[in-house]
Amino acid sequence: MKVVFIALLSLIFLENFSIALSENEDNEIGDDKKVVCYFGSWSYYRLGKAKFTVDDIEPQLCTHIMYTFFGVHDNGTYKSLDPYLDYSENDGQGYVSKFIKLKEKNPSVKLMISIGGWSMGGEMFSNIVSNSTLRKNFILSVLDLLQKFNFDGFDFDWEYPKEDEKEKFIKLLKNLKNKLHAAGKLLTIAVGATSSRAQESYDIPKIAAEVDFINLMTYDLHGIWDRKTGIHSPLYANDQLSVDDCVKYWLAQGCPKHKLIIGIPLYGRSFSLSSTKSYRIGQPISAAGKAGNFLKSADTAGNLPYNEICFNINNKKWIRVFAKTEKTPYAYKKDQWVSYDDLQSIDLKLDYILSKNLGGAMFWSIETDDFGNICGDGKFPLLSLAHRRLILNDESSENFESTENNSSDDEEESTSDECEESSEEEEEEENDRNFNVPFFIQIIQKYKQRAIKS
Ligand SMILES: *[C@@H]1O[C@H](CO)[C@@H](O)[C@H](O)[C@H]1NC(C)=O
Ligand SMILES: *[C@@H]1O[C@H](CO)[C@@H](O)[C@H](O)[C@H]1NC(C)=O
Ligand SMILES: *[C@@H]1O[C@H](CO)[C@@H](O)[C@H](O)[C@H]1NC(C)=O
Ligand SMILES: *[C@@H]1O[C@H](CO)[C@@H](O)[C@H](O)[C@H]1NC(C)=O
Repeated sequence: MKVVFIALLSLIFLENFSIALSENEDNEIGDDKKVVCYFGSWSYYRLGKAKFTVDDIEPQLCTHIMYTFFGVHDNGTYKSLDPYLDYSENDGQGYVSKFIKLKEKNPSVKLMISIGGWSMGGEMFSNIVSNSTLRKNFILSVLDLLQKFNFDGFDFDWEYPKEDEKEKFIKLLKNLKNKLHAAGKLLTIAVGATSSRAQESYDIPKIAAEVDFINLMTYDLHGIWDRKTGIHSPLYANDQLSVDDCVKYWLAQGCPKHKLIIGIPLYGRSFSLSSTKSYRIGQPISAAGKAGNFLKSADTAGNLPYNEICFNINNKKWIRVFAKTEKTPYAYKKDQWVSYDDLQSIDLKLDYILSKNLGGAMFWSIETDDFGNICGDGKFPLLSLAHRRLILNDESSENFESTENNSSDDEEESTSDECEESSEEEEEEENDRNFNVPFFIQIIQKYKQRAIKS
């Protein structure tokens, strides 16, 4: 008993002082798993069942919550992208201070600010890394932002450093780390997950040495740019584009296991089928999926929030299929098809994280979980599952069996056939995936702009 107590005490001690020990980063300090929750502040502007505010966050479900996003001025200093929402001045919503108050509900949660994101693009960060004045402004301004509002750390979402910026990126991270760690603040990054992205943008062992942990964006691996249906965050796949393939690459390149946080999407990527003769993976599509009813905007074509997908399955006769190879579901009705994650696939991803002793799970993003319990699995069913298994250390897997239609052998066969047939085509199209895609964030940001204007 006493031994256990001392062990616990020293774990707490080590956790609190892990910053001071950061030079020994390869020591796996503690076994604590992280549940990293990204919060899209603009969900304030959604309507009806989709409206989500900072007060809806349940901070006890997460170890870290990332407030997204802040931007930067041309001179390298931080800026609010939506002063009305972020600040309380001029009758604003005061989101930042409300966010920091979440600490009262969970004193151990780390509350962080993210700068960057897909819609911001990478150009401003390219300017910053190559100009010493901007670099200095950026570093001092980030520190000021954290101290002024009492954030626990900074999450850097540069999408993405270019090949010739790899070294400059590491230098910037090193300088940021020195300043932030000296002030007791955390430094994390979000990174593109695939091996092709990593080869271009990251010197993996070096960036891993400079940050507290790495949020691996293991989603959007397939989408309308493939011009056929595909699972966007498959645990496994036959085409080297899966969570497992990304994780194996990052580990093989020297990323410490405990610093790797696996991204899990709480949204689906949707498609309009060219034909309803077959609903298999790899079927030709005519367009992005139609915008749903929850986000209520044509700009959200191609994306459905998890809460709307489960609602559609429960109430609108969408048929759910569990893809056996990918270990991830999809659902369809008429000419609409969506790939997404649910309790069953997330439970398997959590098994994977635990069995490989990785750092934890990251969720993009919490406001599309079924926070209002409209589907009957409780509030925040997906985050709650991660909380139970990674934070409460309940080792037992739920073994969610697929009770839905069509989880037949047929499925696995069809999947592998399609992959073989189309592998050449896929390679060709991989290159343009980052350019012609209306990514989720970008779409939502546009929606937000419209909402502000109207
Ligand atoms: C950077 O630009 C912003 C906005 O124009 C300005 O408010 C701020 O004072 C500038 N900071 C520095 C260090 O130049
Ligand atoms: C660096 O940025 C500063 C501030 O924007 C600018 O005045 C200066 O010309 C830039 N230096 C270079 C070498 O581009
Ligand atoms: C799933 O089952 C339904 C009804 O049993 C059937 O109409 C549909 O074609 C099946 N879907 C697939 C992908 O096999
Ligand atoms: C399969 O789908 C059909 C029609 O959509 C439905 O009536 C049936 O209950 C479903 N079966 C299961 C096991 O969910």
